[in-house]
This record gives sequence, structure tokens and C-alpha cells, in this order.
Amino acid sequence: MSQASAENSPTRSDAPTESDWEELRRAAVEIAGRAYAPYSHYPVGVAGLVDDGRIVRGCNVENAGYGVTLCAECGMVSELIAGGGGRLVAVWCVDGKGATIMPCGRCRQLVWEHGGAECLLQTPEGVLRMDQVLPQAFGPEDLTR
Ligand code: THU
Repeated sequence: MSQASAENSPTRSDAPTESDWEELRRAAVEIAGRAYAPYSHYPVGVAGLVDDGRIVRGCNVENAGYGVTLCAECGMVSELIAGGGGRLVAVWCVDGKGATIMPCGRCRQLVWEHGGAECLLQTPEGVLRMDQVLPQAFGPEDLTR
């Protein structure tokens, strides 16, 4: 589901379908092919389904100052916000061989901010909720407690 449509706009509360997942994986694999990873030689691609039906993507962008590297998820979140925002409902992250990988700890925090506990993540062990892969997360509501 790459476009918002009358049926799913402005929000979608239904679970991602098989074809949503297929499209996410395809998008993640494709964008991994555009990664800039001359130092680690480890391309990463990620795709997220937004609650309005959009698919947002990102790839890692490394830097000669290694610590300045942008993870793929940074690009995905940037596209999410630049494209009008919304909530991530499902995310799939792959390496350069197309294998499913886990987002690093920092990037789980990024996904938490924009998808929350219920956002689904494809993992090497199947689909898990964000609150399973980032238990006891610190989030926006902690700032107002
Ligand atoms: N990387 C990501 O893009 N996302 C992750 O969640 C894990 C790591 C990138 C950063 C770096 O360019 C390469 O993978 C090796 O760490």
C-alpha cells in the first residue's frame, strides 16, 4: 500500500496485510541498494508503513567521521516528517543481502517516538511489537509525568 486512498485515509487502524509486508520488504531491499556505506560495507535499508498508507524509506549514509553516520532509520524518520508526519504502524529493516535485521538501540528509540508501543517490527524471529523489542521505553509521555 504505497498511496493514501479513500479507504484508508486519513488513518488506518487495521493490521498490516501480507501485501503490506511484501511491499515494505521490497521497498527496504530497494533502498538498501542506494546506501552510502563505503566504510562498513554494510548497507541497510528500512521501510515503514504510515497510518495514512504512505511508505517511507531510508538507507544508511556513512561519513569519514564515523560517528556522524546516519542510520537508515534516520532517513526513514526524516522522510516521515518531511512528508507530513503520521504514525508508523509497521517497519522492516534489511541488510545488503536482503536479510531481516534488528534496528540498533538508538534506532529503536527513533521508531518508538513515531510509532509507539503498538508499531509492528519485522524481526529475524517474526513480527514483534515495539514494546517487545524496546521494553520499558522512555518516551514523550515521560516528559509530562
Ligand atoms: N545501521 C543502520 O543503518 N541501522 C541500524 O539499525 C543498524 C546499523 C548502519 C550504520 C552503519 O552504517 C552500518 O549499519 C554498520 O553499523
